[in-house]
Amino acid sequence: MAPMSIDPADIARKPDRARTGSGILLALCLAGPVWAQGGWVPAPEREQALVRMVRQDCGSCHGMQLTGGLGPALTPQALAETPRESIAATIYHGRPGTPMPPWKAMLSEPESDWIAQRLQTGFPPEAKRNQ
Ligand code: HEC
Repeated sequence: MAPMSIDPADIARKPDRARTGSGILLALCLAGPVWAQGGWVPAPEREQALVRMVRQDCGSCHGMQLTGGLGPALTPQALAETPRESIAATIYHGRPGTPMPPWKAMLSEPESDWIAQRLQTGFPPEAKRNQ
């Protein structure tokens, strides 16, 4: 094939490809991960949603202060000896045969890892709502 030859099928595909490209870009801007010094962190709005989820959904079993309930405490002291990857895996996959459910339908793996890291360093409080 000559280097400059143009495949009509290629031209026909181009608009599609451009659309997909900007769609991905848009998705990255809206919900995408932010790479910051020291590791992956969620975008600010997603971070608030994750904090709310841990405080409320996880809190329903692990206690509103995460100091334990049906599930064990998720405080930095309680998790000090547990490798972060193992905490993240428990969150993502759950513990089959126990009430600890998997969260992979709600969370990405980096988000599970971020929650694990934040639990080990002291989980932030929910942002106060102004209204
Ligand atoms: C329906 C109740 C329930 C909910 C909701 C729940 N957990 Fe659990 N979780 C448990 C139970 C029970 C265990 C203990 C499992 C076992 O016996 O090994 C557990 C274990 C864990 C562990 C392992 C702790 C350790 O010391 O090894 C982590 C980490 C954890 N949960 C995090 C979370 C997070 C984060 C959420 C929310 C995204 C969550 N859990 C939601 C019940 C729950």
